[in-house]
Amino acid sequence: MNTKEFEAIWKENDALNQVPKPDWTKTWLEMRNAFPSPYRPPAKDPLAEEIEKAIALLDNLKPEYPGPAYLGPGPTDPEGPNYAETERAKLGDKLANVSDVVQKSVQLFEGLPNWNHPLTMPNVIPPANIAAIIAAMMTDVFSPNIIEGEYSWKVAAAELESAAMLARLLGWDPCTARGLYTFGGSGCYFYGLKYALTRVLGLQSRQTGIRTDAKILVSQQGHYCRENASDWTGLGMDNIVEIETDIDTNSMDPQDLEEKLKAFHDQGIPVVSVICTMGTTDANAFDPVAKVRELIDKYPNPAPYGKTFLYCDSVIGWSWLTFANYSFAKNPLGFSEEILSVIQRNYEAVKGMVYADAIGCDFHKVGWAPYNCSIFVYKDRVEFEYLMRRPGSQYLQERTSYNPGLYTLEVSRSGSYAMAGWATLKYFGYEGFQAILGGILEMQHYLRHKITEYDEIVCVNPDDYGLVTLFRVYPKETKAREQYQKELSDPQAKDELKRNNELQQKVADQLWNWFRTGYQLPGVGFAPYISYTSGFRPTEYNRAKTDPDAVIYALKSFPMNVNINPDSMQTLIKLVLAARDEVSKLR
Ligand SMILES: Cc1ncc(COP(=O)(O)O)c(C=O)c1O
Repeated sequence: MNTKEFEAIWKENDALNQVPKPDWTKTWLEMRNAFPSPYRPPAKDPLAEEIEKAIALLDNLKPEYPGPAYLGPGPTDPEGPNYAETERAKLGDKLANVSDVVQKSVQLFEGLPNWNHPLTMPNVIPPANIAAIIAAMMTDVFSPNIIEGEYSWKVAAAELESAAMLARLLGWDPCTARGLYTFGGSGCYFYGLKYALTRVLGLQSRQTGIRTDAKILVSQQGHYCRENASDWTGLGMDNIVEIETDIDTNSMDPQDLEEKLKAFHDQGIPVVSVICTMGTTDANAFDPVAKVRELIDKYPNPAPYGKTFLYCDSVIGWSWLTFANYSFAKNPLGFSEEILSVIQRNYEAVKGMVYADAIGCDFHKVGWAPYNCSIFVYKDRVEFEYLMRRPGSQYLQERTSYNPGLYTLEVSRSGSYAMAGWATLKYFGYEGFQAILGGILEMQHYLRHKITEYDEIVCVNPDDYGLVTLFRVYPKETKAREQYQKELSDPQAKDELKRNNELQQKVADQLWNWFRTGYQLPGVGFAPYISYTSGFRPTEYNRAKTDPDAVIYALKSFPMNVNINPDSMQTLIKLVLAARDEVSKLR
């Protein structure tokens, strides 16, 4: 075909055009409808119509009030979907119809937990707020890529502005700090460790690889993503050194940290990073950052190693920073006295992050944004960007002044995370964060208080300041508080502890079963969606955790949405007791 013939084929509007079109052009033209129009649509945008239909279909999956805490159409198998069937998937022969694909996509949401439901409280999993959902969806329409300003233009400002807002909250200079959105709290941790390794072991370590058994120091309660980060960076998991934690507060023991820092200092072994966990996943324990900074300065690494890095894994705790402008004296939002002091204590703890070199924040936890949405914020942009810089690429030009692809782990970087996080900050403001965090604490406090009215249930983390309530239910007629104290402290009661640990697990499994099968307790309601922990702390006689059986199991309520109310908590307690009775019948 010559160019004239080719041009004739594309004279689409010429009725006299007799040139036969090859078959591929038919599908090609049809595929124009597979994409958003390049121009402003004259009437209703087909994309907007499909989105509206899709949202309506998703809405149909929600139960009518007061239905169960999962998306419809009906009860589901507690064993989960038959994932083995996925192996039968094959690519279709022809172009499908977009509405059919949307309909099939909606079907994949059937059975998913409904994160906004008043009975949903299994873990630190928030529903996403509407501003963040829409902002993130927009990036699917226009695909900004924050590898550089050229491909993301003003969308890159969402990343830069988020970093500036967070730097201000931290008490850092927004002109010298910066932040990078990345794939999760574990991504932030990974960034922190890579930065620390390069600072401490030197730039050449990026060429030669990690050849030194340098150490990272993290509390016993630190998240397991320390293993991911030390493994994937090549440092090796054997170089993780655990610091003991206080049995009551779960916070890093500064004395143990000092002993270990001193020992490494005396032996000339470099410490790459001390990691403070600012909000452990269940206990919400905060490590003492100011003290850690003081100790790092007291025991510097020997030459030629660089300065030990202080990273805060604050994915659970960062948003307490939004109480920075709260008047605890005037209490303008009217929190109850007990909650006000808890909030103040949480705020005072996270305020210490001013001493960190970098922190990680998850918006997909305490930021109520969709997955993934995390930002790694670092105090010294000049140092980070110098240490992590790579030569540019032949196919990318630095057209604007923002080119993070020169020093990020990722090459292509979705604008979705940045837009979702930024939109949340813009939408919530100080007061939105304060109301949601404080409000959840009020609900949690109500639950803990309600539990005290029942002899057979005991809250096992009454002194924790986080959003989680951990509790144990005991056989009928048991004085739960006394029994728990015995199990916690008396090695002779280990068999009872093990038996009652098993009971917590069975109650949790029964509740899971009821939740999944849409069971309704007559006169009460649907089963809540909660979870349990198989060892949130060791017993007092097993502080070193040498005995895997001498640990405390507990049922867990982790409320994360604003629809949770006192009724939810009362239903929770009644269903827990009913589940206890049910499993006791089978014993
Ligand atoms: C304290 C802490 N750090 C890190 C992580 C990992 O975060 P992500 O799941 O976003 O990768 C979690 C996850 O729960 C966490 O609780």
